[in-house]
Amino acid sequence: MTKEKVKNVIDPWGSDLPEDYKEIAKKFGLEKFNLSDFPDPNVLMSRGVIFAGRDLKRISNCIKSKKKFYALTGIMPTADKVHFGTKSVIDTMVYFQKHGAECYVLVADLEAAATRGVSLQVAQKRALEIHIPCYIALGLDPKKTKFYFQSENNDVRNLSFILSNKATLNEYKAIYGNPEPSRIMASVLQVADILHPQLKHLTGKVPGIVPIGIDQDPHMRLSRDIAARSKDPSFISPSSINFKFLPSLTGNMKMSKSEGNSLYLLDSDEEIKNKVSKALTGGQKTLEEQKKKGGNPDKDMLFELFKQHLILDDKELEKRRNDYRNGKILDSENKKYAIALLTKFMEDFRKKYESAKKQVSKMF
Ligand code: TRP
Repeated sequence: MTKEKVKNVIDPWGSDLPEDYKEIAKKFGLEKFNLSDFPDPNVLMSRGVIFAGRDLKRISNCIKSKKKFYALTGIMPTADKVHFGTKSVIDTMVYFQKHGAECYVLVADLEAAATRGVSLQVAQKRALEIHIPCYIALGLDPKKTKFYFQSENNDVRNLSFILSNKATLNEYKAIYGNPEPSRIMASVLQVADILHPQLKHLTGKVPGIVPIGIDQDPHMRLSRDIAARSKDPSFISPSSINFKFLPSLTGNMKMSKSEGNSLYLLDSDEEIKNKVSKALTGGQKTLEEQKKKGGNPDKDMLFELFKQHLILDDKELEKRRNDYRNGKILDSENKKYAIALLTKFMEDFRKKYESAKKQVSKMF
């Protein structure tokens, strides 16, 4: 039986994550990410975690010639914790903020209500107590970031109604497969999220970029089609920039928001120890064998963490990879090091989170 490698339709609300990034990029017409387009790249860019996008040159030009642009992302508050993978998105928002972007972060409370049955009250509480403070703790400047709730933004809701006549049911089915009314509502709302900063009274006609995992690409395709089709000349097709997913520590590529072996930003020291000790490594079956043959850092979830989040110095990372390959570093040592780095990161993060939480309580 031949297994279809990449399906024709990506379901943003499903749990299967695509694994073959090259095929995905080809199938859906993503551009390859070009490192030289982005000055002072972050490690996600320079280490290939960011691998593709749409209309990236447009944003690169804005950065290089200091023209106005915006960066926007959104979170569905379906859990009362923030997955470590979300850190990549926020790190990249911070990158764009430092390079001149006007930043928008929205809480997709209406989407969560329609597609996941989360009440607006619960969503709001989670966003104010957990998600938004975590994002600020990761480095987003609250003074330069516009946070909003879908349920409270009239510009966005009005725009979603107005733009809803720019798409057909057949187009919707071709992009998403499943045309449940709740999904249609959520998608058109997301299109409005993505395009609304281009409304004249906000930023005017300016390019924008949306950092996202591939699961959200269908929304980009719809947004770009609608922007192109809209008679309103104020819209420019939005750009996107895509990440590879952070697998869970046990190597699971399923959407890991509800999975026990994923790391979360406010995990306790105990949880860190537990999760890291069970991590999937690239080591050999026995200690002897590993000393002789070495391990494979490319199949090792700890190296994935080092690469995306914990070791920012390229030379240090390269040395550790080599030492692991040569059998000089064993799994036990790697785990100890990962626990030490994570514990240190969390200690610092918790402090920033507590102070951000106080700030947020005054902001809304
Ligand atoms: N659909 C996104 C999610 O599942 C949330 C979201 C809503 C979003 N509007 C957005 C993301 C606009 C990026 C841009 O998490």
